[in-house]
Amino acid sequence: MKINPWDSTTYQDYARLRDEFGIEDFSENIWKNLKEPHKLLRRGIIFGHRDFNLISKNIQNNKPWAVLTGMMPSGKMHLGHKMVIDEVIYYQKLGAEINIAVADIEAYATRGVDLNQTKKIALEEYIPNYIALGLKSKNSRIYFQSKNQEVKDLAYILGKKINWTQMQATYGFNGSVNMSHIISPLIQTGDILHVQLKKYGGIKPTLVPVGVDQDPHIRLCRDIARAHRLYNVRVTKDNKIGVFVKIDQNVEKLLKKAEKILNKNGFKQLKKINEYKAIYIKDAKKQDIQKIDYSLALIEPEFDGYGFIQPSATFHRFMTGLTGDKMSSSKPESAIFLTDTPKEAKKKIMNAKTGGAISLQEHKKNGGKPEECMIYELFLYHLIEEDRELKEIYTKCKSGKQMCGNCKKYASELMEKMLIDLDKKRKQAKKQIKKFIK
Ligand code: TRP
Repeated sequence: MKINPWDSTTYQDYARLRDEFGIEDFSENIWKNLKEPHKLLRRGIIFGHRDFNLISKNIQNNKPWAVLTGMMPSGKMHLGHKMVIDEVIYYQKLGAEINIAVADIEAYATRGVDLNQTKKIALEEYIPNYIALGLKSKNSRIYFQSKNQEVKDLAYILGKKINWTQMQATYGFNGSVNMSHIISPLIQTGDILHVQLKKYGGIKPTLVPVGVDQDPHIRLCRDIARAHRLYNVRVTKDNKIGVFVKIDQNVEKLLKKAEKILNKNGFKQLKKINEYKAIYIKDAKKQDIQKIDYSLALIEPEFDGYGFIQPSATFHRFMTGLTGDKMSSSKPESAIFLTDTPKEAKKKIMNAKTGGAISLQEHKKNGGKPEECMIYELFLYHLIEEDRELKEIYTKCKSGKQMCGNCKKYASELMEKMLIDLDKKRKQAKKQIKKFIK
């Protein structure tokens, strides 16, 4: 299976995808200690992660962490986009510093929208919706890729450690892809890593909540972050834990400083070998590597290093379109847009594919298939907060006691409430946009 961030299809088998790409399972023990776990977490919609433990540690210890995500300002926002912003807002409540990129360079490069249009779409559609959905201005920031010098500088400078063959292997680029498009993954790396620059508060764990189609970008970014580190902490071939200096300047100073930090962290059995540019830590275990790496990252700026911590990520499943295939802005009947009127939404809901049996009689006898039902998906992702209520609908459908007509009617009512509320909040949001753009 191939994943490509620009034309992802519907993914049936998320677990297979997860295992194939070395994404970790976002199982209950990962999120159960978070405060009031959001329904997207509880219901397995977020199904995978990378290094989420770095984030939960900082939440528990009340230490800073950031969220960074981005959206291309092209077309209208639909329920699939809402899901990511809901997730971001949940993390804001947990204390994260929030950063959202207006991915205007990417939209320009990959979708052919010009930069005046992207600006208009961001200001009139995306940002008002973020605010209407509940994003607070305190401790959050929205910025345009095209206006952020650090992001663009990092794209150029960090690109040094990745070559064309690797880009081709990761993205399958061929000779006809335009150069702006080819650079856009590096811009995204700039997005993700710039929040760790001193100007933006310095080195910290950063969580990137995205759809699984974005994993190639996450892997690229993690590789690049690591490639630019001055220290490398790893298990050696003969099973020792070692800290290695990766550059040729200041080697002795870097080793001395590392020794000091390791001592401070309680490691006493150190063997420093300057010629190998290494320190072996006899009293460290594999589980200590992440912690050691983190503490060494923090001192790298003293030696003109970036000290980037590899970004963490969560991956969510995609919403299926109401028509049963992909939810896409280019197929209006497949998606409910946040600016749809209740009447428009109702019409789409009434025409949606359900998990109902062929006939009423059949349905009553054998029950329906909620796991294949687009209305149930609306409940699951957006419309029903209480797990108990959701479960009841599920069971009733399965046993043939819940009819599709009733579900559609109920979904339309809940959707109407949501859309009216958003519309009201969006109008007020438009006056507040300035507070968010930083
Ligand atoms: N590439 C993302 C998309 O296709 C948008 C994006 C840009 C992004 N920069 C980002 C996502 C940084 C996460 C983090 O929608």
